[in-house]
Amino acid sequence: MVEKCITNVKIIRGSPLIPGDKSISHRALLFGAMSSGGVTTVSHLLNSADVNSTASCLSALGVKIEKVDQKTLVYGKGAENFITPQAILDCGNSGTTMRLLMGILSACPQLEATLTGDFSLVKRPMKRVAEPLNLMGASIKLTNDNFAPMTIKGNALNGVNYHLKIASAQIKTAIMLAGILARGETVITGEIHSRDHTERMLAHFGILVESNDKEIKIRGGQKFKANDITVPGDPSTAAFWLAAASLIENSEITLENISLNKTRTGFIEILKRMGAHIETKVTLTNPEPVGSIKASFAKLKAVVISEHEIPSLIDELPIFAVLASQAVGKTVITGAEELRVKETDRIEAIAVNLRNMGIKIETTPDGFIIDGPQKLHGAKINSFHDHRIAMSFSIAGLIANGPTTICDAECVDISYPNFFSTLEELVKNH
Ligand code: S3P
Repeated sequence: MVEKCITNVKIIRGSPLIPGDKSISHRALLFGAMSSGGVTTVSHLLNSADVNSTASCLSALGVKIEKVDQKTLVYGKGAENFITPQAILDCGNSGTTMRLLMGILSACPQLEATLTGDFSLVKRPMKRVAEPLNLMGASIKLTNDNFAPMTIKGNALNGVNYHLKIASAQIKTAIMLAGILARGETVITGEIHSRDHTERMLAHFGILVESNDKEIKIRGGQKFKANDITVPGDPSTAAFWLAAASLIENSEITLENISLNKTRTGFIEILKRMGAHIETKVTLTNPEPVGSIKASFAKLKAVVISEHEIPSLIDELPIFAVLASQAVGKTVITGAEELRVKETDRIEAIAVNLRNMGIKIETTPDGFIIDGPQKLHGAKINSFHDHRIAMSFSIAGLIANGPTTICDAECVDISYPNFFSTLEELVKNH
């Protein structure tokens, strides 16, 4: 277990290259593999443990993936030609890998596969994905009716009309992918306003998806067509540097080529409402809005976040909690119960570590309350092997009195292997 020591810094400045978006990277590999023939060239694919989990599962399913220079080539073979893997598919820490594969493999009658993950992933709920797939005719055997390891026997599926109760892009995507491989039409209603990368990227891969505020409609039997894609920078990764620039006097950070997809920019919108100095400029719109972000130090004030905004900043709530501790006024987060079933119970992990640093925080079943500003004191941080907790509290350490130790710091490899070296660069520059 690696420990990293973080100390108070005077200034942070620079223009770090932000690695590719994690959600888009998983989908680029999966949709490339599902294409019927043809090579998908992926540029700026995120090179991290989670995305490598998707790549190695696809290899075990018989898909050829090659790295050539800075690009990744995915040789499409169509899901109907995926093979029964020789060994258990290990999804590591990656919920996206497991849940998206559940949708795809359930609809592959030619194969059978067992999926598992690390100590964290095997504790995360999977019934929420299995349930709609079962209605389509899937055969998924979960451990204790909710968890991995699970065994999937591929079947010929039928389309479904499904009312989604949780605003989760992973569940939504699993149903959509199964729907494309199924007979008939699939219609999803309810909580469909989570990140829409699947909807956008399916169109890029030649799949017709009809979607509006109320429903997503997709016809079964459509074929994926290989198509090159450049993965934009991950806004959830960018969030750490935007937060650091906002918190540390005289600081400024500029980031280029970041996904500015509206379903992901909740954190930026809320920073603006807090009084942050932050500007964005969209430079490209298709298939994903992409652009630059510039942030500099500002005095922050607490804001109210409404429940419907939560999905657009769900992964940024740990770093947002750090910001809230420095903002003037009372921050109240509600409607974020999904945080309890992420890589760890993030409401607990935020509270434990903020308290370790001397901050008063009240937790609720679906959020937390922080009255700011309060002084942060250096402390030993338990990352709970959660990459976003480790990175959020590294940023807190930059403005704390005294040294902060991040335990189990290697977990940043899940989404941002260069996090600590980039931090060093940004601090060293000045
Ligand atoms: C993701 C969706 C979100 C997010 C996760 C990635 C995706 O999870 O938290 O990091 O790529 O679809 P949920 O679908 O569970 O909300």
